[in-house]
Amino acid sequence: MSITKICCIGAGYVGGPTMAVIAQKCPQIQVTVVDLNQERIAAWNNEDVTTIPIYEPGLAEIVAEARGRNLFFSTDVEKAIDEAEMIFISVNTPTKTYGKGKGMAADLKFIELCARQIAKVAKDNKIVVEKSTLPVRTAEALKSILDHTGNGVQFQILSNPEFLAEGTAVSDLLAPDRILIGGDTTPEGEQAIQSLVAVYANWVAPEKILTTNVWSSELSKLTANAFLAQRISSINAMSELCEQTGADVNEVARAIGMDSRIGPKFLKASVGFGGSCFQKDILNLVYIAKSYGLHEVADYWEQVIIMNDHQKRRFSNKIVQTLYNTVADKKIALLGWAFKKDTNDTRESAAIYVADDLINEEARLTVYDPKVSFSKILSDLDYLESRTPGKNKEHIAAAATAYEACQNAHAIAILTEWDEFRSYDWQKIYDSMQKPAFVFDGRNILDVDQMKAIGFVYLGIGA
Ligand code: UDX
Ligand code: ADP
Repeated sequence: MSITKICCIGAGYVGGPTMAVIAQKCPQIQVTVVDLNQERIAAWNNEDVTTIPIYEPGLAEIVAEARGRNLFFSTDVEKAIDEAEMIFISVNTPTKTYGKGKGMAADLKFIELCARQIAKVAKDNKIVVEKSTLPVRTAEALKSILDHTGNGVQFQILSNPEFLAEGTAVSDLLAPDRILIGGDTTPEGEQAIQSLVAVYANWVAPEKILTTNVWSSELSKLTANAFLAQRISSINAMSELCEQTGADVNEVARAIGMDSRIGPKFLKASVGFGGSCFQKDILNLVYIAKSYGLHEVADYWEQVIIMNDHQKRRFSNKIVQTLYNTVADKKIALLGWAFKKDTNDTRESAAIYVADDLINEEARLTVYDPKVSFSKILSDLDYLESRTPGKNKEHIAAAATAYEACQNAHAIAILTEWDEFRSYDWQKIYDSMQKPAFVFDGRNILDVDQMKAIGFVYLGIGA
C-alpha cells in the first residue's frame, strides 16, 4: 500500500523532528503531528519558526519549508487518526514512578491511551508504528488492545525505533546509520513493513533499511542504548583510576579508540551521561531481565547506572573537598544545564544532580545555559523533591551571561559542553572571581595549559 497520509501522536523530541524530516523528504505524503498539549502544538505553529518548542540545529528551516505544505501540527487527535493510513506513536514512556516496577519499568500508560484512542476512532485498516522506546513485547500489548476494542478493522503493528541523538537530530534523520523496521512475519505484516520501507526509501539507501521481526527490533533499540551508555560508564570508571594514578583519561581514550575493534566514539569521560533514553532504557532492560529470572544479566547492566550515579556524586564531592571541605554560602557558577550541547532538553542531566548535592552543602549557585530557562532549572530541581520548592529558589539563580554567572564566584563547574564556553575571555572571568579561582571541567573542554597560565586551579574529569 502506498502511504498518502501519516499521523504522528506526540509532538516531542522524537515526533517533531522525525515528522518534519519525513514531510520534507516526502512532499507527496501529508504528515499531521498531534499532541494533547495545546501549548506545545501552538508553539509548533508559531509563525516565527525560531520559537518552535524544540531547539535542534537545522530544524527550524525544515519546519519553515514543509509546514502548511504537507506538514501540520494539530490538537485534533481523532481527525488525524481517522484520516491516516499509517499512525506513528511517539509519546513519552518515562520510568514508572509508582506501583510494580517503580523506578525501573517503563510507564506505558500514555501508549495504552493512544492504542485505545486509535481503536475507538479507526474505521478502516491502519498500520500502527511504535516510535517511542518501549520494552520488548509492547507491540503484543498494543495489538491486544487494538484487536479487542477496535471496530473490526485490521491493525498491523510495526516497531521502528528511533536512533537519533538530540542536538544532531536533523543530521541523524537525514543521514541515518540504519533504519530498523520490525513487523509480523505474515504476508500482511510483510506488506506493512514494505509500506514503511517505501517511505524511508525516499531518501535512505535500501541497504541501510533493515527489516526484522517486532521483538528483535524492540530489543535492538534497548541494546544499542545499553552498549553506548556502557562505553561512557567504562571510560568514566577509568577516569577515577586516572585521577588516583596520574594517567590522563583523554590519552587513554585516544589510544584505545584507535583500535579499530573499539573505535573512537562515545569514549569521552564526563560528569555522567544524561538524557531521556540511556538510564530509562537500561533500567527497562534490567527489569525485563529480572522478570525472566536472569539476575546476572540484570546485575551486569545495572552496574552501568551505578557507575553513572557514582560519577555524578564524585564530581560534586570533589568540588566540596577541593574548596576546603565547605561550600556553604560560597557562590559557585554552573555553566550549562542541558544534558548535552545543542539541545534545550534537560531530562536526567547530570547538572540537576550536581546542583542538588551542592545545595545540600548550602552553596549558592548561579547557572548560565544558552538554551535553558530558569523556570525549567527550578522545576528540574523541584521534581527531585529533595527540599521544598521555596528552598531551591533561595539557593539557585540564573544569569543572562556566563560572565555574570562567574562574577565573584569561588568556583566554576562546567556541566554541558556548549561550544561557546571554549571561546570566552577566560582572563576576564578569572579577574572577576574570588581567589583562588577553581574550574571543575566536567566535560574536559577547556585548554588546560591556558587555564593554568591564567592562574586558575583547573580540575578536569580524570585529572
Ligand atoms: C541517545 C542515543 O545516542 C540515540 O541513538 C537514542 O535514540 C537516544 O539516546 P541522546 O540521549 O540524545 O541519544 O544523546 P547522546 O549523544 O547519546 O548522549 C547521551 C549522554 O551521554 C549525554 O549526556 C552526553 O553528554 C553523554 N556522553 C556521550 C558522554 O558523556 N560521553 C560520550 O563520549 C558521549
Ligand atoms: P520524546 O522525547 O519521547 O519525544 P516528549 O515528552 O518530548 O518525549 O514528547 C512526547 C509527547 O507526547 C508530549 O508532548 C505529550 O504531550 C504527548 N502525548 C502523550 N500522550 C499523548 C496522547 N495520548 N495523545 C497525544 N499526545 C500525547
